[in-house]
Amino acid sequence: MTTAAPPVSTNLRDDILALKEERNAVILAHNYQIAAIQEIADYCGDSLGLAFRAQETDAEVIAFCGVHFMAETAKIINPEKTVVLPDANAGCSLEESCPAPELEAFLKENEEKNYYVITYINSSAAVKALSDVICTSGNAVRIVEAAPKDRPILFAPDQNLGEWVAKQTGRKMDFWKGNCYVHVEFTRESITRIKEEHPDAAVVAHPECTTAVRLLADEVCSTEKMVDFCRDSESQNIIVVTEAGMLHRLQREVPEKNLIPGPTDRCACAECRYMKMNTLEKLYLCLRDLKPEVTLEEDLRKNAEAPILRMLELSK
Ligand code: 13P
Ligand code: SF4
Repeated sequence: MTTAAPPVSTNLRDDILALKEERNAVILAHNYQIAAIQEIADYCGDSLGLAFRAQETDAEVIAFCGVHFMAETAKIINPEKTVVLPDANAGCSLEESCPAPELEAFLKENEEKNYYVITYINSSAAVKALSDVICTSGNAVRIVEAAPKDRPILFAPDQNLGEWVAKQTGRKMDFWKGNCYVHVEFTRESITRIKEEHPDAAVVAHPECTTAVRLLADEVCSTEKMVDFCRDSESQNIIVVTEAGMLHRLQREVPEKNLIPGPTDRCACAECRYMKMNTLEKLYLCLRDLKPEVTLEEDLRKNAEAPILRMLELSK
């Protein structure tokens, strides 16, 4: 009796690296990816760093280990490249909270307001295409500060990030009511409890957390800026209030610090089910088969590209 050969060899790491060479590919990974993917990636970072890397690369293929909107963003600014992602179902609750037809209808109903629409990168290409400028958590303050003073701002789709940036800049704005289902799981109670267990620890939190949680933090910033905060902090113990994958990135960068995952009311840490859909095996397969591939209709791509390029220009 013959048994079928396994689709993927057991030496996955080497096979991925060999395929990467063969395809002239670059592997980009978000800080929330599983450890094995972070370690094999050419670059691991936050949404802003990843967008810049995607813009700069001269590889022919981008294997994007993150969620769909991130790979889609890479494709929008690289129409000539092949962009693949390990799992096409890796979505995002923020993207889901803002369907393009709903945003379009809202803007039509409020046409007389002439909103300047600032949209978080965690959104679909169709929503980006309706926006004036895109932002990430790493540059939201700068993007809002650069917005025209004579137009009201609509900030979509993350209300928590919007409220944080409004506070930072003193700029009034209207909010789309979306949220990240992972970050809203942290509560004032869960973070107060862990602070009581580690009274000397500093707390760093992502701006997608609720106001009640952000108020307990010593620093609120994007995942990439958390690396600098942990390195520069005088505290030996640091409570990290964001998705659990970040702990691996931080442990690699700042091994001398004791990093404590922020708990939720239900769990000792918080994981994004979408980010965790990607595996080494799926990464191998997407490089081997060049699918799932991100493709976009050209008109939509062009309309979505302009606000992303505006963001990248303003962030240099
Ligand atoms: P940053 O890594 O840009 O801070 O974003 C976090 C996030 O939720 C990505 O989905
Ligand atoms: Fe979306 Fe939240 Fe997951 Fe980031 S962590 S991909 S914002 S659901």
